[in-house]
Amino acid sequence: MPNIVKILGISGSLRKRSTNTGLLRAAAGELPPDTELEIVTLHGIPPFNPDDELAPVEPVRSFKAKVRAADALLFAVPEYNYSVSGVLKNAIDYGSRPPADNVWTGKPVAMMGASVGMMGTGRAQLHLRQSFVTLNMHPLSQPEVQVTFNAKKFDADGNLTDPEVRARLRPLLAELVTWTRLLRGDSVRPVGRP
Ligand SMILES: Cc1cc2nc3c(=O)[nH]c(=O)nc-3n(C[C@H](O)[C@H](O)[C@H](O)COP(=O)(O)O)c2cc1C
Repeated sequence: MPNIVKILGISGSLRKRSTNTGLLRAAAGELPPDTELEIVTLHGIPPFNPDDELAPVEPVRSFKAKVRAADALLFAVPEYNYSVSGVLKNAIDYGSRPPADNVWTGKPVAMMGASVGMMGTGRAQLHLRQSFVTLNMHPLSQPEVQVTFNAKKFDADGNLTDPEVRARLRPLLAELVTWTRLLRGDSVRPVGRP
C-alpha cells in the first residue's frame, strides 16, 4: 500500500476564470506518483473578526478541516497591489486562530502564482513567505514558479495553455512531495541529489 501524499491546493482568487485556480487545475495533471491534489477556493469565508474565532461559521470550519487533514499545502497566489490578495490573507488569519487551533503549524508548503505583469507574483510570494514564519510552516524554497504575463498563457476560461509553464509545475510538485515525505519520515531520496 503506497504512502499517499495528500496536497490541498488553495487558490487566492475568487474570480470565476482565475488563472491562479487554473494553475492549480494544471498542477493536478502533473502530480508525481502516489500523490493527490484537492483544490479549494475561499468562497464563503467572511471577513475575519476575532470575536467569532471560537465559533466560526461553517465555511471556515470546513476550510480549516481540509487544511488540518492535508499532508502538504500548495498556494496559488494572485498579486494584488504588490502583495497577496485580501481574501487569501483573510483565510490565513482565520486558519491561525485561536492560537491553540492554528491549522497551518508544521505543514509543508509550496507556492506558485500567475499575474498580468512582468514580476509574476514574486512580490506577493515574498509577503506570503513572511507569514509562514509566525505560522510555523515549513516552506519549500525552490523551485519558484512565478508566471508572468498570464493573459498570454491561459485561455479565456483560465485554463493553462502554455507548455513551458506546465513543465515548470512538475519539479515544483515533485520537490513538495519529497519535502513532505522527508518531514514525516518516509523513506525517500531528495530529488536531484545523490
Ligand atoms: C486589486 C488588484 C490589484 C492588482 N495588483 C497587481 C499587482 O500588484 N501586480 C500584478 O502583476 N498584477 C496585479 N493585478 C492584476 C492581477 O495580476 C490579475 O488580475 C490576475 O489575473 C489575478 O489573478 P487571477 O487570474 O487568478 O484572478 C491586480 C489586480 C487587482 C484586481
